[in-house]
Parts: sequence; C-alpha cells; structure tokens
Amino acid sequence: MRTNEEILSSLPSDSALAGRTALVTGSTGGIGEAVARVLAASGAEVLVSGRDAGRARGVVDAITASGGRAHALTADLGAAPGEIRAFAERAQEALGGRVDLLVNNAGVYPGLLTPSVTDEEMEALWATNVRAPHVLVALLAPRMAERGAGVVVNVGSWMARVGVPYKALYPATKAAVEQLTRAWAAEFGPRGVRVNGVAPGATATRGTAGNADQLAAMTKATPAGVPVRPVDIAYAVRYLVSDEAAFVQGATLDVDGGLAATRLR
Ligand SMILES: NC(=O)c1ccc[n+]([C@@H]2O[C@H](COP(=O)([O-])OP(=O)(O)OC[C@H]3O[C@@H](n4cnc5c(N)ncnc54)[C@H](OP(=O)(O)O)[C@@H]3O)[C@@H](O)[C@H]2O)c1
Repeated sequence: MRTNEEILSSLPSDSALAGRTALVTGSTGGIGEAVARVLAASGAEVLVSGRDAGRARGVVDAITASGGRAHALTADLGAAPGEIRAFAERAQEALGGRVDLLVNNAGVYPGLLTPSVTDEEMEALWATNVRAPHVLVALLAPRMAERGAGVVVNVGSWMARVGVPYKALYPATKAAVEQLTRAWAAEFGPRGVRVNGVAPGATATRGTAGNADQLAAMTKATPAGVPVRPVDIAYAVRYLVSDEAAFVQGATLDVDGGLAATRLR
C-alpha cells in the first residue's frame, strides 16, 4: 500500500475545482494538510492555516511546487470568537474576496479518562472543535448563500457514535459537529450551500504519532486492517465539495476502514 506522502507528492492534477477558493482549517499537518493538497491538485485556490507559520509555509510550498495555488495564514482557533471572525475576514481577503469551500478540520483531542480532564482541556475541546466551526459558518455560510453557492465540510470522528472507555468529552464535541452538520444543511441548503461531514477512523497523523501502537491495535481488527491515511479523508472531502455530490446534504461519510460499522470477531 502506498504511503500518505507518496500519494500526496505525486497527485495527478485536474480542474474539477478550478475557480473555487477553499479555506481549510488545521491544514499545517495531518488530515488538513492532505485536504489542502488534494483540493489544490484539483484546481482550488487554498488558504492553509494553523498556529504554526513554518509548517503552514511548508504546505504552501508543497502545493505551489506542484503547480497549485495556496496562501498561508496563521490563526489560533481556540481564541475568542472575535479573533476568529477577524481571521475569517483575512482569509477571505487572501482568497480574493470569496470563500467558496470551507473545511472545518482543525481539532484537538486531549484528555483521557473523565476525572483527569483538566479545565484547560475542556475549554480547548469546546473552543476549537465546536465554537470555532460555528463562528466560521455563522460568518461565511450566509455569504455563500448570498452568492447562491458554497460547500462546508466538517471533520467529525468515528468516536462520535460509539462509546469508548478512554475518551468522553472529545467524542461529544464530534457528536456536536455531526449534529451541526445536519442542522446547517437544513439552514443553508435551500440557499445553495451544501453542508456535509467526514468521520475519520483512527488515522496516522502527527497528532496521533505518539499513539502508533494503539492505532495499530485499534485498526488490526477492521476490514482495512491498518490505520487510515490522511489522504483517504482528503479524497472524501474532495468528493463532498465537488458538483458530483450535489445531492449529498447533511450527511457524514465514514472513512474509517470499517472501524465503526463492523466487528470481525
Ligand atoms: N487522527 C485521527 O485518528 C482522527 C480521527 C478522527 C477524527 N480526527 C479529526 O481530524 C481532524 C484533524 O486531526 P489530525 O489527526 O490531522 O490532527 P493533527 O495531526 O493534530 O493536526 C491538527 C491540525 O489542526 C491544527 N490546530 C490544532 N489546534 C489548533 C488551534 N487551536 N488553532 C488552529 N489550528 C489548530 C494544527 O495546526 P497547528 O499545530 O499549526 O496549530 C494542525 O494543522 C481533527 O478535527 C480530529 O479531531 C482525527
């Protein structure tokens, strides 16, 4: 099986998303980076964001080196709503005055057993995973609706629909994201804005690198048998933002190697 980096560094180009602009949050690494690179390879002009300016620049360089268009803009999405609105305005400006595609990917997954979750972790989970997407959609989706077109994709998690004994609040934030996906599809869909989600399974990223053994153990008994690659999530996002998904509204697509849906033993 080809590695994530092998695939990302040799993506074929096409023009399926030519003329569209995309804001991908949390695209300085992991799943978001793959989404940014895949959307750019399909012709979208992409705004790469995260807190780390160096990594953002690296992703922009990778995109431009392969002929794509991208800009970097740093932001802390755990910040107060006013700062996130200011970031969205700057992002829109960097993209020439229009955000056509919004991918709410940035997310944090700290905290293990419920009694050990700190106040800071609780705050970060709520602020980054739920409040920030809400602020971005509240600002940008009405503008998409005014233009009569736009797509939002929210990145959820396989954990949103199963109980696991080692994390409770993080899956709850992702369950909130799934419900927001359905609600926003109803709220903005009639005005031309499609809203959907992708629920990744255990995916090998920088964020999960410290838990590689756990990832391997979790995925061993799935049909896929190995962790998801970030690019697999990115392909699903590319489908959902494309015109081919015109009748997909309010859905969350599992891209988890069968983790949530199956039991092999
Ligand atoms: N990996 C998995 O197994 C898995 C499974 C299910 C769902 N997910 C979800 O998929 C998404 C991406 O996960 P990942 O594994 O790719 O994560 P990751 O490797 O930790 O990368 C997270 C990305 O989000 C950005 N980010 C984190 N906190 C931020 C903040 N406060 N402000 C702005 N940007 C922030 C990071 O950028 P900076 O470091 O530059 O700030 C980075 O680009 C998350 O929503 C996660 O919950 C992941």
